[in-house]
Amino acid sequence: MGLIEDLRAEHVVIERTLGALRTYVEARLGGRGDPADAGAFLAFFRLWAGRYHHAREEDTLFPVLLAHLPIRPDSGPVRSLVDQHAAMARTLEEMAPLLAGSGGQGARLLDLSTRYRRDLLAHIDAENSVLLPEAEARLRGAGVPALTGRAADAEESVARDGADRLVALYPPSEDPGAIRGEGCVICPSYGISCEGLEREWWSEEEWDDFRERAG
Ligand SMILES: [Fe+2]
Ligand SMILES: [Fe+2]
Repeated sequence: MGLIEDLRAEHVVIERTLGALRTYVEARLGGRGDPADAGAFLAFFRLWAGRYHHAREEDTLFPVLLAHLPIRPDSGPVRSLVDQHAAMARTLEEMAPLLAGSGGQGARLLDLSTRYRRDLLAHIDAENSVLLPEAEARLRGAGVPALTGRAADAEESVARDGADRLVALYPPSEDPGAIRGEGCVICPSYGISCEGLEREWWSEEEWDDFRERAG
């Protein structure tokens, strides 16, 4: 599989593990669940979702998009998605001591874990519905060969395998309050640091075509 297909498949794994994290936090708040499993959740989100998945987007896919497509480096989709990675990593680190702790700050843990999950789900929806299909079609159109990302290292692979155990132990639960969807409107950066598909991704030729058809 090429990088873009890999990233799509990885989103499924991340989403499933976010559902397991929701079940785990609920269990912990109810005095159940093994406190020792916090480490495996943190390893998965830090190493596999962060250092592996997000880093390959930043190190492999995004530089190629900036090099071959009319995408601005200082704002727009790439800058926005990088900023979202950083913001989510900060939320994860705020949550980490509470997830691994012995309790006492349940409301704060619930708040941070909910924010982390919803931010990451909206990020994945924006990537699945805009970034990845646009990148795939436009890079092919620009004659760029299929991308390959680096393989996971030993630590990242262990963190990934740990997620299967967590999902079996803490069956993923749906978040009825999460707003899911497709397109730019789902992206928290839309209208703030990114102006959306047509303004950020379309070439001059596409705009000329559009204006011509619109008369
Ligand atoms: Fe991302
Ligand atoms: Fe992603």
